[in-house]
Amino acid sequence: MADQHAQSGEDHRPTEIPAIRWEEPPEGPVLVLLDQTRLPAEEVELVCTDASALVEAIRSLAVRGAPLLGIAGAYGVALAAARGFDVDEAANVLAGARPTAVNLALGVRRARSAHRAEFAKSGDGELAARAALDAARRLHQEDAEASARMAECGLALLDELLPGGGHRILTHCNTGALVSGGEGTAFAVALAAHRVGQLRRLWVDETRPLLQGARLTAYEAARNGMAYTLLTDNAAGSLFAAGEVDAVLIGADRIAADGSVANKVGSYPLAVLARYHHVPFIVVAPITTVDPDTPDGASIEVEQRPGYEVTEVTAPQAPVTGAGGGIPVAPLGTQAYNPAFDVTPPELVTAIVTEEGAVSPVTAEALAELCARSRQV
Ligand code: MRU
Repeated sequence: MADQHAQSGEDHRPTEIPAIRWEEPPEGPVLVLLDQTRLPAEEVELVCTDASALVEAIRSLAVRGAPLLGIAGAYGVALAAARGFDVDEAANVLAGARPTAVNLALGVRRARSAHRAEFAKSGDGELAARAALDAARRLHQEDAEASARMAECGLALLDELLPGGGHRILTHCNTGALVSGGEGTAFAVALAAHRVGQLRRLWVDETRPLLQGARLTAYEAARNGMAYTLLTDNAAGSLFAAGEVDAVLIGADRIAADGSVANKVGSYPLAVLARYHHVPFIVVAPITTVDPDTPDGASIEVEQRPGYEVTEVTAPQAPVTGAGGGIPVAPLGTQAYNPAFDVTPPELVTAIVTEEGAVSPVTAEALAELCARSRQV
């Protein structure tokens, strides 16, 4: 079950955006999410008391973005355990809620393993639930630390690739504090550049059809006082042609062993544009997003979303008429092609930046070495 608590007015806006938090009120533990579908109009918290409410929040993109999905999945297992639900069943539905971001299944697995190990040892359900929660909290904390290291590493790479500073960076989708225990992935690098006075402009792709760029990245850029400009996705070509983009920074939902990168649909066309215009195309993601079990781009399952996300627009307070609850912008019955992600081949990626370091050029061997190194730490 999920409840909604609206926070109206500027006074209640948190200075830090808590995308997710665990609470233990007397009625029992809950997972509190910032409902990202309502931003930037209002900050509304979604309170989940069970895994099925969290699955719904994941599918509707109230909680989203690869690293945060991992954290949410882990807390979801902890929630099921703490509330006495069947943990294996909850873990299975959570892991399958969205297919592309590898972090979701990974986060779920981590909390479930901690739960299993403690239960096997002590036979105590409460201790096992606590172990799952500890695992989720650790993952949350590790993600914050990884985010800070990615920002550092990404900034160093920008300095190397673009000596002289004054970067004009194009980004796609949303990769900031809303998707992370810290300040995010690609956005964290842009933010680091901003803080040292090296960001001249952040070009923000609106990111059709669900507008994560317009609604969320612009929101985060504004909150951080960054110089940013919003553009429609299809304006990117003319921006490159005008010589206005120095680098592209994006996140990733899954990186295959060969270095193919699945990220929000529209990333691949940016990579093609970047190559044509000799602009670095940089992917920033935690090492956990590299999936050694996915050999190549063709093996990545790309989530297909409902057509109404394309054939309708949803505006708060507008009359609701379409099948998806939005205003139709195409004739009724129009079929839509709506993949949530696309896959960029490694040869178009200048560098992959992780908390363990960067690989450039992107090869299967270099990625495998980076993963092996990170497992040793
Ligand atoms: O469908 P979404 O909004 O979950 O897609 C998110 C993205 O594509 C992000 O770019 C990706 O998860 C990387 S976030 C660090």
